[in-house]
Amino acid sequence: DTDIRALFTIFGATGDLANRKLYPSLFRLYKKGYIKNNFAVIGTARRQWSNDYFHEVITKSIQNLVEDETELHEFISHFYYISHNVTDADNYIELKKLSEQLDEKYAIKQNRIFYLAMAPQFFGIIGDMLSSNHLITDEGFNRLIIEKPFGHDLESATKLNNQLTKSFSEDQIYRIDHYLGKEMIQNISAVRFSNMIFESLWNNKYIDNVQITLAETVGVEDRGDYYDKTGALRDMVQNHILQTVALLVMEPPLSLNGNDIRNEKIKALRSLHLYKDSNDVLNNFVRGQYVANEEMLGYTEEPKVNPDSHTETFVAGKILVDNFRWAGVPFYIRTGKRMSQKDTYIHVQFKHVSMELFPTEGVEDVAEPNILTIHISPLEGFSLRMNAKRVGQGTEIQNIRMHSIFDEQAVANSPEAYERLLLDCLNGDPTNFTHWQEVEQSWRFIDYIRETWDRNGWKLFDYEAGSMGPKESFELLERDGFEWISFD
Ligand code: BG6
Repeated sequence: DTDIRALFTIFGATGDLANRKLYPSLFRLYKKGYIKNNFAVIGTARRQWSNDYFHEVITKSIQNLVEDETELHEFISHFYYISHNVTDADNYIELKKLSEQLDEKYAIKQNRIFYLAMAPQFFGIIGDMLSSNHLITDEGFNRLIIEKPFGHDLESATKLNNQLTKSFSEDQIYRIDHYLGKEMIQNISAVRFSNMIFESLWNNKYIDNVQITLAETVGVEDRGDYYDKTGALRDMVQNHILQTVALLVMEPPLSLNGNDIRNEKIKALRSLHLYKDSNDVLNNFVRGQYVANEEMLGYTEEPKVNPDSHTETFVAGKILVDNFRWAGVPFYIRTGKRMSQKDTYIHVQFKHVSMELFPTEGVEDVAEPNILTIHISPLEGFSLRMNAKRVGQGTEIQNIRMHSIFDEQAVANSPEAYERLLLDCLNGDPTNFTHWQEVEQSWRFIDYIRETWDRNGWKLFDYEAGSMGPKESFELLERDGFEWISFD
């Protein structure tokens, strides 16, 4: 057999994430033969489910991937359910027994992946219990995958990390940020480091500003509970956006090896300018909350949200990087719920040529700065804005955009973020998982903003559901002589 041997134990097996992402991803890996005969999955959660019911749930969650009934039945036969209270040691004894049986049945050779996909307050105790009840094996690998959020500030994240590292070493801990599993996020390094025309210009001499937008159309859906305690700064900026910034900012790594890349990202995150002064926070970060429009509820009317909530559903900010390469280049970021479109992209705006040689009066187009766009989702690919001469006589300029958008078929067949990350973990490759020091630096940056906001509860701006955020977000760029780039 060439397939990878592993026993997965999923904590939170009845939850939304397991359903929407983990079971389909495991099935895809199965169909591709990465896992085949020598794997098993134990699902655990508090609910009393039978194996049969568990199989029904999984069948439903993967139904649109199934092409062959026999394959489906073989796949789900590897799944076992055991109801489990994560704080009760006796339950771990049961879990250990089942793990050992399955290890033998499927010849798994003691390889273990523990996947924590449940309420974060239990991450620490599960780590302790796995160790004190000897679920960590001596022979095979033992890897712990942890969903976000990893703490809710630096202090709680440090505490959690200290607790986990009593049982698992840093190289056994796989902190998930699903953005790092996305095709186009992984493509940032490729476009930077394999194109002389970009890498040679990738600094403050040639780049004017960078803009990162992660816009969503959904509201808080049924996650009001979680979201109202969290807010957009913690939900999106601390992880996905800062990871994206790190990849854009970092120095070229020595190799594509996980340690080399993560060392550069850690350095990049260390160079972020910290807004220690609360005036700096208020001047450089804007938070917003959506209010109702004709069709959609406002945030505070959503289920499970405090009607007086001050939680932000939108953030815009200016991130500065205090190092030699980037001093003076603003990285503008924005993200929010209930915005006008679901669209994730990065614009890298280059400086303009030093003198206008071509006509600027009485013409349709004037020369404009080059912009490299990295489309992350739903489009995946690149666009480059350039200037050329308009066809015909004269010297009039025309702006053109060159596009390389990956076709829908290729995008549909490319592995899902979770599928890639699960496979990376199976292969012991930590490159696209966040190192503790990255988490640490991210919280350090975020905490200053959060603390100021908490002290200044009134600085929360309204924006209408279905819009691109509060006007203060636009003003943030206008003050610097920029605007949010929009091509439509
Ligand atoms: C998650 C956030 O991490 O990312 C969600 O918790 C958000 O609130 C989601 O909707 C966005 O991910 P994607 O892949 O749809 O951009």
